[in-house]
Amino acid sequence: MLVLGIESSCDETAAAVVADGARIRASVVASQVLTHEKYGGVVPELASREHLRAIEPVVEEACQRAEITLRDVDAIAVTEGPGLIGSLLVGLVYGKTLALSLGKPLVGVNHLEGHVHAVLLENKIDRAAGKTVPGVSLPAIALVVSGGHTSLFYVSSESATAEQPQFHYRQLGHTRDDAAGEAFDKVAKLLALGYPGGPVIDKLSRFGYAGVVDFGRVRMRGNPLDFSFSGLKTAVLYRVRGTDLAREAEERRAWRRTVDKPTLDEIRARCSQATLDLIASFQQAVVQDLVERTLAAAEGSQVENVFVTGGVACNSLLRQQFTDRCKGLGLPVFFPSPALSTDNAAMIAAAGYYKLLKGERAGVSLTARASFPLGVDQH
Ligand code: KG4
Ligand code: ZN
Repeated sequence: MLVLGIESSCDETAAAVVADGARIRASVVASQVLTHEKYGGVVPELASREHLRAIEPVVEEACQRAEITLRDVDAIAVTEGPGLIGSLLVGLVYGKTLALSLGKPLVGVNHLEGHVHAVLLENKIDRAAGKTVPGVSLPAIALVVSGGHTSLFYVSSESATAEQPQFHYRQLGHTRDDAAGEAFDKVAKLLALGYPGGPVIDKLSRFGYAGVVDFGRVRMRGNPLDFSFSGLKTAVLYRVRGTDLAREAEERRAWRRTVDKPTLDEIRARCSQATLDLIASFQQAVVQDLVERTLAAAEGSQVENVFVTGGVACNSLLRQQFTDRCKGLGLPVFFPSPALSTDNAAMIAAAGYYKLLKGERAGVSLTARASFPLGVDQH
């Protein structure tokens, strides 16, 4: 079954063609980074406008690269939510119109479920759990960590056959304020390091000493598997405000206005050791928090695997610390490749495929949902 996936929940317009929920024939992502860069974050109105411009060429390019026409597609899967409503609407209306005009089945997909499927897409499900065939096995704990989300899920499959697994999700925890990626982006904005903040902090942190600033552990009242990153972000602000670090950041901000695309070396040359140490310590604190809570969830629920997915899953320290800690525990950990960790439509097509197998179909009433919890009891 050839599924055309469409994703437009935030600032990436994406389309992909995926065969049988497993083989990516094409995956095209049009990033809006250049549009939002000067604001240090996504501007919703600009995002919708960019999606409108990009949606048609992106879908066309996906079909071209897959060497198919839209008529060859068997079904269309589109992100339904959560996300920016104006952004979601562009992809959703486009997908709905295509499905109607071509007479193809349509299915709506939860963006968070898509991120989980980015892991499943690249790592075949191993029914002989952890024996000879390398592959993921369920149940698993999935950490979805991006610019918009930081949530822990218990993912299981209650399928009768390996070919038709049906996935179930239970949310175990989520962020009560900022998402981890959002904290990276805001700290980078404060220090005038660039946008998006995650990749630049990741690379610059290699030149800093993470032990210099002790941010302490984030303690959560109530559910210990919930996250909170706004306090950490504010702690960085307090260390910067009124100090040499703030003056240095303002100089960097002025300099950045004069250069088009600064290289990492150029940015680094304008960072004092104290700034590099601060961001390395901040990154270490975020990563440690993500690792500890995820492993606590894994320990508490006796799972077979850990999945780490979403834009922040690209972070090199996060990957290294998860790999090291999970190795020590004998717990396999899986990440999508970097291209599938950040927003893409292949993960939407893959998640949609299993819904289609189940017989799910969306009608014309399918609407975008800014808030669309996954695995939460709605009663
Ligand atoms: O999944 P994604 O593309 O979009 C959302 O659904 O939010 O994630 C984007 C987020 C941004 O906040 C970005 O700063 C963060 O992922 N990110 C990273 C890294 N690469 C991207 N954060 C930390 N380290 C990275 N290497
Ligand atoms: Zn995402």
